Amino acid sequence: MEPQYDMDDFTKVIVSENDISRKLDSLSARIRDDYEGKDLLLVGVLKGAVMVMADLARRMPPSVQMDWMAVSSYGSGTKSSGVVRILKDLDADLSGRHVLIVEDIIDTGITLHWLLGNLRSRGAASVEVMTLLRKPDAVQVEVPVRYLGFEIPNEFVVGYGLDYAERYRTLPFVAILNPAVYGD
Ligand code: PRP
Repeated sequence: MEPQYDMDDFTKVIVSENDISRKLDSLSARIRDDYEGKDLLLVGVLKGAVMVMADLARRMPPSVQMDWMAVSSYGSGTKSSGVVRILKDLDADLSGRHVLIVEDIIDTGITLHWLLGNLRSRGAASVEVMTLLRKPDAVQVEVPVRYLGFEIPNEFVVGYGLDYAERYRTLPFVAILNPAVYGD
């Protein structure tokens, strides 16, 4: 298939399609071992986690289940307030379930810190975190991550679920957006 994007929109690809695939092979092997014989529920955080959830879940046995949440901080300007609200809640009851939150990126850590507290209060047997990306230089709240893909620089990145104005989520790789795209 011909690429459907223009590489001039990016200054650098920082995680390639092949990097992602190989990392998901190794992370999924660990997850399959750790949860063998357990009833595992993957919880994806919309919308960014759609790509990583789809590719991770296809490396898991068919007994694994998926559910989704959508959350929002109160406006990007006040993100550091730590106030998060639920736009779409889970369908599943978490009582006694082993839950693995699947995220595309941890930036400040505020979303995941809140989500961990929220899901742990619902009586799950365990709640752990898998994230494909983490920006160590942007973290404001430390979040325990059991399964980490890549640490990346504190740059504006898009692709593989990550957007700029809802665009670029469909890229098969993660890249630094060219400032020319957003008018710098
Ligand atoms: C992104 C990402 C995480 C969150 C991380 O979602 O998917 O959920 O931000 O940021 P934090 O660590 O600073 O809290 P976003 O709110 O951009 O929504 P989206 O997934 O729909 O793009």
